[in-house]
Amino acid sequence: MRIILLGPPGSGKGTQSQRLMQREHIPQISTGDLLRAAVASGSELGRKAKAAMEGGRLVEDALVLGMIRERLREDDARAGFILDGFPRNLTQAQALERLLKTLRQPLDAVVQLEVDNAELVRRISGRRTCADCGRVFNVSTSKAELSESEPCSTTGLPHRLIQRPDDNEATVAERLRVYEEKTRPLIEFYRERGLLQTIDAEGEVAEVTERLERALHALPRVAAPPRRAAKSRKPRRAAARRLPKRAPAAKRKRAARVVRATAATRVARAAAGRVRGGQRRTRRRGSARRGRR
Ligand code: AP5
Repeated sequence: MRIILLGPPGSGKGTQSQRLMQREHIPQISTGDLLRAAVASGSELGRKAKAAMEGGRLVEDALVLGMIRERLREDDARAGFILDGFPRNLTQAQALERLLKTLRQPLDAVVQLEVDNAELVRRISGRRTCADCGRVFNVSTSKAELSESEPCSTTGLPHRLIQRPDDNEATVAERLRVYEEKTRPLIEFYRERGLLQTIDAEGEVAEVTERLERALHALPRVAAPPRRAAKSRKPRRAAARRLPKRAPAAKRKRAARVVRATAATRVARAAAGRVRGGQRRTRRRGSARRGRR
């Protein structure tokens, strides 16, 4: 299954991706998480992304696209993936379309998570993350004791809850504005391609998961297109050689041209060291010589 979860900040993309990932055994690819990890590691990419993230703006397309190209080529993404928070604008969506075509990994669906703005703000302001294991909680929408019911899986101690630096009031307002301006147009982009599914993402987390799964399982899966067989000139060449002597002169001339042209190409490629057959022949001759010695 290859899907995109599309929605504004706080709509539950991360929460639902995590649940889907466990059920479908496919990776969640979150550009937000990848960027936060880069910032935490102090890498060059992280240094470049930090200011935009803190201001609630989008990180430069080139940086995000480089990261996604690398991540989608990893082995675990061959079985499918959930894109969370990517693409975020038309440039990214078009680049993704080209990349998935090259990788022969067509999308199955883009699911838009619909949530009212007041609820988004309530969710974001209540979000807390464990500084050690990264688990996400919410002090406004779920019971506070949830974070106290089990110890942190990394330290074995109670969770150390922190607030994301971009979850403050001013940055949230900017993130919501950026969503409306840059990301919302993707709804139309994917609707035109017949990939868009929209679900109501309000209510209990488990209810939303159920709606999401229902939408996904109603979909016909898009099969990856078969690899195109390499065009061979051999049948044409063989047919040219098989021409009877009595074939019309023009036909014989044309056939001779085909044979000459393919032979010339082979010689030129072998000279440039690009023909595998040529290299094999050289190696075989070499080993035969060694054998004779
Ligand atoms: P990113 O991390 O992607 O943030 P976002 O899109 O703003 O989304 P959020 O993580 O805030 O929300 P979410 O929809 O995942 O909701 P969640 O499940 O956590 O991006 C951060 C920044 O990185 C961007 O601003 C940008 O600078 C940069 N960036 C990232 N991708 C980029 C890209 N492609 N290009 C350029 N820049 C990029 O839920 C939120 C809270 O609600 C949680 O506390 C959760 O517990 C709670 N909750 C979830 N569902 C429910 C429910 N049904 N009921 C009650 N509470 C719920």
